[in-house]
Amino acid sequence: MQRAVHTLSQEATELYQTAREEVARFVNARDMAETVFVRGTTEAINLVAYSWGLRNLGKGDEVLVSLMEHHSNILPWEILSKINGYSLRYAKVNDLGVLDVEDLANKLSEKTKIVCLSHVSNVTGVINDIKRITRLVHEQGALILVDGAQSVPHIPVDLQDLDVDFLAFSGHKMLGPTGIGVLYAKKELLESMAPFQGGGEMVREVKLDHPSRKLCIAWNEIPWKFEAGTPNICGAIGLAEAIRYISEIGMTEIAKHELSLTEYATKLMEDRKVQTYGPRDLSLRCGIIPFNVEGLSSHDVALFFDNYGIMIRSGVHCAHPLHQTLNLQASARASFYVYNTKEEIDRFVDVLKEIERF
Ligand SMILES: Cc1ncc(COP(=O)(O)O)c(C=O)c1O
Repeated sequence: MQRAVHTLSQEATELYQTAREEVARFVNARDMAETVFVRGTTEAINLVAYSWGLRNLGKGDEVLVSLMEHHSNILPWEILSKINGYSLRYAKVNDLGVLDVEDLANKLSEKTKIVCLSHVSNVTGVINDIKRITRLVHEQGALILVDGAQSVPHIPVDLQDLDVDFLAFSGHKMLGPTGIGVLYAKKELLESMAPFQGGGEMVREVKLDHPSRKLCIAWNEIPWKFEAGTPNICGAIGLAEAIRYISEIGMTEIAKHELSLTEYATKLMEDRKVQTYGPRDLSLRCGIIPFNVEGLSSHDVALFFDNYGIMIRSGVHCAHPLHQTLNLQASARASFYVYNTKEEIDRFVDVLKEIERF
C-alpha cells in the first residue's frame, strides 16, 4: 500500500511493511496480511468485538470468557452483549488461579460462538494450554480469541501450531514502544469482517454515483481495510526492532531465563513474611509472582519498593474478577523479563526484609 510517491514516503511505506513481515514471522502467521497494526491488545479485542461480533452475535448466542481475564478481554464483550443481546459466560478458575478446563469444556455448546481467553494471566503468570483448548473450541464449531499480551513477549508463540482464530498483543510489553500492537486473525475471517473504523487508507475507492448521489465504496484489501487513518508508522518500526532484538536472544532462552529467576525469587520469598499466590509448579507459569505483605496494602508495598528504585505493580491489575475469585482485595506483583538478574532479586528480597522491619 503506497501512501505517496516521494522518496521519504516510499521509504516509510517500505519500513512499515517490513515491520509487518517481521511481526508475522515472529508469531509464525501464514501470511503477513493476517497481521493488523492497532494501538494495543485492548484495541485489537475491541476490533474483533465490533467488526466480527456486532454482525455475528445475537440473542441466544453465548460468548465464553474466563474469570482470569484482564478487563480488556471482558468489557468489550460485556458492552456488546448489551447491544446484541447475547449471554456472556465465565469459565471458572481454582483457588490457585488455574483455569478449570473441564468447566470451560462443559460450558461449550452449540450456542457458543466465540471463546475469549488469555494465554498467560497478568496476575499469576499461569499459562493456559491454548492448543488443547483451541481443539475443544473448534470441535464445538466456535472461534477462539487469545489475549497474548502476556504470552507473546515471554514464551514462544507459534500461530500455525496453536491454530487460534484471533490473537492480540501489545508492543510496549515486549520492549517496543507504546501505542502499537497487533491483531492477528485468520485471513478468511479478516476478509469476511466489516471494517472497524472508517477513514483514509482503509478504502480503495469512494465514488459519488451521479444520478443517485449515493456513495459507491470498495474497501481496501486486508490488512489495510482495518487500518483507518495515518498509521503509527514509528511505532510499527520500533516494534519490529524490538522483535529483532528478542528473536536474536531467542524466545526459548527468554522463557528459561524468566523461569530460573522466578524459581530463585520464590525460594527466597518462602523465608519472608509474605503470602504468595499461584500454583506451586512454576513450569505452569511465566515470570510473575503475586504477593501480599501482612498488614500492608499493596500500594504501600509498591511505594516502599519505589523508594529503593524497584518498580512493582500493585492493585487489582485490571483483573477484578480474578482477585474476587482468589478472595483478595488486591496484590503486589513482582515480574521479570529478559533484562532482570539474580542480583536484582537479591536486592528485592533485601527490601522485603526492610519492609518486615518497618
Ligand atoms: C493479559 C493482558 N491483557 C490485556 C492487556 C491490555 O493491554 P493494552 O493496555 O496494551 O491494550 C494487558 C495489559 O496489562 C494484559 O496484561
